[in-house]
Amino acid sequence: MCGIVGIVGHEPVATRLVEALRRLEYRGYDSAGVATINDGKLDRRRAEGKLFNLEKKLDGEPLPGTIGIAHTRWATHGVPNETNAHPHFVDGVAVVHNGIIENFSELKDALIADGAVFTSQTDTEVVAHLLAHYTREGLGHREAMLAMLNRVSGAYALVVMFEDEPGTIFSARFGPPLAVGHGRGEMFLGSDAIALSPFTNEITYLVDGDCAIITHDRLEVVDYEGSPVTRKSQISQAATFMVDKGNHRHFMEKEIYEQPEIISHALAHYIDFATNTVKPTDTAIDFSTVSGLAISACGTAYLSGLIGKYWFERYARLPVEIDVASEFRYRELPLSPSQAALFISQSGETADTLASLRYCKEQGLKIGAIVNVRESTIARESDAVFPILAGPEIGVASTKAFTCQLAVLAALSIGAGRVRGTVTESDEKAMVKHLAEMPRIMSRVLNDIQPQIEALSRELSRFKDVLYLGRGTSYPLALEGALKLKEISYIHAEGYAAGELKHGPIALIDEHMPVIVIAPHDRFFEKTVSNMQEVAARGGKIIFITDEKGAAASKLPTMATIVLPNVDEIISPMIFSLPIQLLAYHTAVFMGTDVDQPRNLAKSVTVE
Ligand code: F6R
Repeated sequence: MCGIVGIVGHEPVATRLVEALRRLEYRGYDSAGVATINDGKLDRRRAEGKLFNLEKKLDGEPLPGTIGIAHTRWATHGVPNETNAHPHFVDGVAVVHNGIIENFSELKDALIADGAVFTSQTDTEVVAHLLAHYTREGLGHREAMLAMLNRVSGAYALVVMFEDEPGTIFSARFGPPLAVGHGRGEMFLGSDAIALSPFTNEITYLVDGDCAIITHDRLEVVDYEGSPVTRKSQISQAATFMVDKGNHRHFMEKEIYEQPEIISHALAHYIDFATNTVKPTDTAIDFSTVSGLAISACGTAYLSGLIGKYWFERYARLPVEIDVASEFRYRELPLSPSQAALFISQSGETADTLASLRYCKEQGLKIGAIVNVRESTIARESDAVFPILAGPEIGVASTKAFTCQLAVLAALSIGAGRVRGTVTESDEKAMVKHLAEMPRIMSRVLNDIQPQIEALSRELSRFKDVLYLGRGTSYPLALEGALKLKEISYIHAEGYAAGELKHGPIALIDEHMPVIVIAPHDRFFEKTVSNMQEVAARGGKIIFITDEKGAAASKLPTMATIVLPNVDEIISPMIFSLPIQLLAYHTAVFMGTDVDQPRNLAKSVTVE
């Protein structure tokens, strides 16, 4: 989604604005722009495509000025071109915006009737016109901001400069995140703390309904009526993370290989390695008394939740209602305050997940957030926060956040089972021991399978369609394998529960359709092998991802068999995630796609 930056500085800002935009690149974008005020005049450079194009423009035509705003745009209204790129200028007003102005069309009609001339197809331009309209009517800038904010509806983070007030930036948040950075004699605005980390680690997070006004040494926050609001600053951890690729070609590759180390840190938060027990968790949710769980999330985070459902039901005997957040939020699900709800989100800002959270809150449920960004809106609005501690995930395709979400869900479900009396002390110890061994096994697997997967990916990149199959917790993994493959290699891929094969997808099987079967030697193994037989009998090409026992037990011919070590059921989803991530990654590399920023995708989806 769009990235926003603003600086009220005491030295030229254009280069620093672009540096901050670079740190927001991971969010996904298709054009970029920067504006400054110099000698009392607004000026801007905008370019379609990557930041490189904007930098080239700035090299040719530098933009002086010590105050400025900048933006990376992920197109919603209007194609990605220079005209639609932000900042938008109208009569001395400059605006950048992340989100959607839902009533833009009605506002645009009214403004046009009033003589306004629009130059872009964006919804954002109505904001600039409204502000220009109110200042023409004689309102001061602050009053014009508040008047505009009371007219627009939707989801937005807005940052505004007025040409005739060259020491102030105005901003507002309703939905997408916005953070204020406190520097020495300089103030900053950004979509997240990572963008601002080269400049400062003292951050104030704005909340919905805040209008913030920054000058070089002051932050003032008011509500939409203009009444003062107090927001405390905090020291952000973002600066302590290295946001570079190290020796890796892509962030995604780096993040795949980081998993053993990162997951061990995540586990240390939830597990007492000395006693092999799950540490007591945030007491705001009492798993011993809840009558059931509701889980909601989007995309990959939803699929980790689906695996969590299997675990909570099996180990804690808790019924789990789960749905993708875009459906959950509108289903009018009957829920009871005796239940608890868990929301899983890497960014902690996903609009649909947040709306589902608010629905559950209204129904009186205790809310738990399984998030990577601890300062995020979803974390802040929850009663209990379960951090996944994965560190910044920059690759758009989620990898390490997924396995860390799984590690946290595994620990929570074992802990819930323990307090509910459905997991014995010895079972808890045994499962926790397996979790503790997991990082070492992950390291070994990543090392061992890499050459085989790379070679296999070359072959896979020649196909147009791929089917993934799995049973039990391998079913959500099959969905995740297909999602990962399609989003970065653009090969059409579908995931199915292996038992569903006969109910439709079997019609697709022929020699042009590789079928990737995820089948550890678990309770379901024999059944999944029967489904493989059905594929083989129809000439389908099988890529078999199994363990040593599974490889020894199956005699079916395959296009490739990827053999992982035999591991306990509780850690198998995390271990089996590794080959599907690597397969997607290497296939995308062979296809030559933009692995870290696949087309049309955004990292943080802050609109519906
Ligand atoms: C896929 C992927 C997305 C996200 C989804 C939710 O690789 O990354 O499907 O999982 O957009 O995002 P968060 O977890 O930030 O709520």
